[in-house]
Amino acid sequence: MKILVTGGAGFIGSAVVRHLVGDLGMSVVNLDKLTYAGGLESVAAVSDSDALAFEQVDISDRAAVERVFADHAPKAVMHLAAESHVDRSIDCPSAFVETNVNGTFTMLDTALAYWRGLSFKAQKEFRFLHVSTDEVYGALGGEGLFTEDSQYRPSSPYAASKAAADHFARAWHHTYGLPVVVTNCSNNYGPYQFPEKMIPTMVLAAIAGDRLPVYGDGSNVRDWLHVEDHAEALYTVLTKGRPGEVYNIGGDNERRNLEVVEAICAELDQLLLNSKNKPHRNLIEFVTDRPGHDFRYAIDGSKLERELGWSAKWKFEKGLAETVRWYLENRDWWEPIQKIYSRGRQGLGNA
Ligand code: NAD
Ligand code: DAU
Repeated sequence: MKILVTGGAGFIGSAVVRHLVGDLGMSVVNLDKLTYAGGLESVAAVSDSDALAFEQVDISDRAAVERVFADHAPKAVMHLAAESHVDRSIDCPSAFVETNVNGTFTMLDTALAYWRGLSFKAQKEFRFLHVSTDEVYGALGGEGLFTEDSQYRPSSPYAASKAAADHFARAWHHTYGLPVVVTNCSNNYGPYQFPEKMIPTMVLAAIAGDRLPVYGDGSNVRDWLHVEDHAEALYTVLTKGRPGEVYNIGGDNERRNLEVVEAICAELDQLLLNSKNKPHRNLIEFVTDRPGHDFRYAIDGSKLERELGWSAKWKFEKGLAETVRWYLENRDWWEPIQKIYSRGRQGLGNA
């Protein structure tokens, strides 16, 4: 079965591609525009495989997307391509509307035209997995969890664009019958994450001896999931999920941001015994908060476990320690990125 993965050169998409091709031996066409966030180095582990094809295409380019469907005849789509960084969405929301809303519309509508041309059997088997985020549900206070029935209350331009995309995905199932399944996932961490997100930002800044910019007082809570767990969960939903359904994916790892940063510092203290930046926690600096900063995210993932039998394997402390080690051992992946991205503050709305 050939799967069309969009955004397969990004953080989560590349983990999906490595899992499908490397672990499961499946055929994949990776459709990616290669924005600042995408790089084929992230799929180098499987790039020699005949089972992997690459198409440098913008998901908003209908003619190019149609051509990819016609050339590769996929049996399913896993749609991950997106502008993904909240801070960037505050500075430049239009890119988020263009890719996340218009691009998702183009993917859905092109998939529908393609699906209508399939045999009855192939139509029944076809799936369009739309990969989304828990940020569509807005912020939690101290209590409670997001369920699949939580109200949509997106706070940031990023979350609003993903919410709009989710609504289009559901509509293409409800109105036209396209076999769409939607997932909403919590914060991912692990190897190959672009160093603008919180965990790699802190790791690379600490290695360099720079200040570690904790937004506000560091009490905001995120629910962390290892990216390899997410990739496996997405394949589970693709193959076992019911069309028209939504599945939340979480790691049951709620942590305050400051706790995570302190854990990164402690890990670096152990790994870099001779560093002049020890103890790394002295580099922590509390900086101006993100505008509209959601206080807490936490996922109730019981539907996915109960109905499809999936639960996360990674323990957060082990996963975080291995992630820190991965960045230390893979400078050849992130040093070239630092030449085009300097880790400056984004998301104050001044851009
Ligand atoms: P990422 O920014 O690391 O990667 C995005 C990829 O999409 C890149 O390879 C980029 O080149 C590609 N892309 C961007 N615009 C494109 C376009 N117009 N056409 C084709 N390709 C384009 O993102 P990520 O963190 O891997 O997130 C992947 C998906 O998962 C997104 O849909 C995101 O909303 C969702 N998600 C992310 C997280 C997280 O914690 N990172 C959590 C839940 C859901
Ligand atoms: O919840 C899922 C979402 O998680 C995904 O949909 C997004 O694509 C992904 O980027 C992520 O969004 P967050 O905004 O939660 O992730 P980020 O890594 O940007 O920030 C995590 C927390 O850390 C957040 O509370 C803001 C804070 N932060 C972030 C950065 C970059 C800091 O304190 N300092 C920083 O330098």
